Amino acid sequence: MQHINLNNKTILVTGSAGFIGANLVKRLLADTQQSVIVGIDNMNNYYDVSLKQERIDQLKDDRRFVFIKGDIADKDIIDTLFRQYRPAVVVNLAAQAGVRYSITNPDAYIQSNLIGFYNILEACRHSYDNGMNGVEHLVYASSSSVYGSNSKVPYSTDDKVDNPVSLYAATKKSNELLAHAYSKLYNIPSTGLRFFTVYGPAGRPDMAYFGFTDKLVAGKTIQIFNYGNCRRDFTYVDDIVEGVVRIMQGAPEKQTGEDGLPLPPYNVYNIGNSHPENLLDFVTILQEELIRAGVLPSDYDFEAHKELVPMQPGDVPVTYADTSALERDYGFKPSTSLRNGLRAFAEWYAKRKD
Ligand SMILES: NC(=O)c1ccc[n+]([C@@H]2O[C@H](COP(=O)([O-])OP(=O)(O)OC[C@H]3O[C@@H](n4cnc5c(N)ncnc54)[C@H](O)[C@@H]3O)[C@@H](O)[C@H]2O)c1
Repeated sequence: MQHINLNNKTILVTGSAGFIGANLVKRLLADTQQSVIVGIDNMNNYYDVSLKQERIDQLKDDRRFVFIKGDIADKDIIDTLFRQYRPAVVVNLAAQAGVRYSITNPDAYIQSNLIGFYNILEACRHSYDNGMNGVEHLVYASSSSVYGSNSKVPYSTDDKVDNPVSLYAATKKSNELLAHAYSKLYNIPSTGLRFFTVYGPAGRPDMAYFGFTDKLVAGKTIQIFNYGNCRRDFTYVDDIVEGVVRIMQGAPEKQTGEDGLPLPPYNVYNIGNSHPENLLDFVTILQEELIRAGVLPSDYDFEAHKELVPMQPGDVPVTYADTSALERDYGFKPSTSLRNGLRAFAEWYAKRKD
C-alpha cells in the first residue's frame, strides 16, 4: 500500500453536490490542512435540485472549496479542469444512480457513467504527460448492484460478477473493467468501491427510506416490494465517508511484473454494513424514528398506508457485504446501527420541514 498524505494536496471530487460527494467534501475540508478540494457537479434534476443546492451552500463558505458546475461527460471541461488544477487525488462519485430509472432513461447512464468515467480515466492518463507527477490515486464509486442475482452471500470481491440485472449495474461493472485496463496500461493507481445502500440525513429522495417518508407524510400508501422479503445491507453515510477517506490515503502499490511491464495497481473493495436487514424490520424502525422525531404523529395508522407488492425488474432479493478485505487492508468496518442512522435521518427531515 502506498501511503498518501492528503494535506497540501489538490483533491478532485466529482458529484460533489450529491449525497455522498457533499458529505465527503465536508469531511475533507475539516480533516485536511492547506488542501484544495475541487468539486464538479452538473446539478441535474434527477431529484430535487434544491437539495443539491443546499448541500453546496453548506460548503461554499470555505475558501479551500472550488465548485465547478459542469458535466463530466464533456471532455473539454474535464481536460481544462485537470490542466488548471492538477489534482493529486481524484474521487469519482458523479454518476447517474438508481436501478429503476435506468430502465426508462438509459441515455443518462451511458453519458455520465461510461463517457464521463472514460473522460476521467483519460485525464488521469494524461496527468503524467511530460514527466509530471500526476494523479497518485483514482478512487471511484462502483456499486453492490454488480453482484446482480448472485445467490452466494455475503458478497465477496472474489466472486464472479458477470451477470448484471440492470443497465446501471452494467455501467458500474464496466467502470471496474475500464479502470483495470487503464491501471495496467498507464500505471494509474485505482481503487473501486462497491457501496451498499447508503442512507442518512440529506440523502437521496429516490431511495426507499426517503421516498417512504415523503409518502407517509403526504398520507399516501407506500409499496413494499417482494412482499417485504428483501434484505438490504444499509450503510450509514458517515461510515461510507470514513471508508472513502481511509482508502484515499492508501493506494495500490505500483509494481513491475516478470514481463517487465507494470502490474496493474488496481483494487476493488466492498463498503457495506455487513449486517443485512429485512425490509419490514427496516420500515418498522423508520416508522418509530419518524414518530420520535415528530415527523409523524404518534397515532399514525401505518397499516392503512402499507401495500405489499411483487418484486420489480432490476431488483435483487438480498445485498450483503463481505468487508473482510476492507478490514484487513484499512482497519475499518462500518458499524452504525440502522436505529441510530435512521434517527439522524428523521431528525434532519423534521428540521427541514420546519
Ligand atoms: N447511495 C447509494 O446507495 C449508492 C450505492 C452504490 C453506489 N453508489 C454510487 O455512489 C456515487 C454517489 O452516489 P450518491 O448516492 O451520492 O448519488 P447522488 O445522485 O446524490 O450524487 C451523484 C451526483 O453526481 C452528479 N452527476 C451525475 N451525472 C453527472 C455528470 N455527468 N457530470 C457531473 N455531475 C454529475 C449529480 O448531479 C449528483 O449530484 C454514485 O456513483 C452512485 O452510483 C451510491
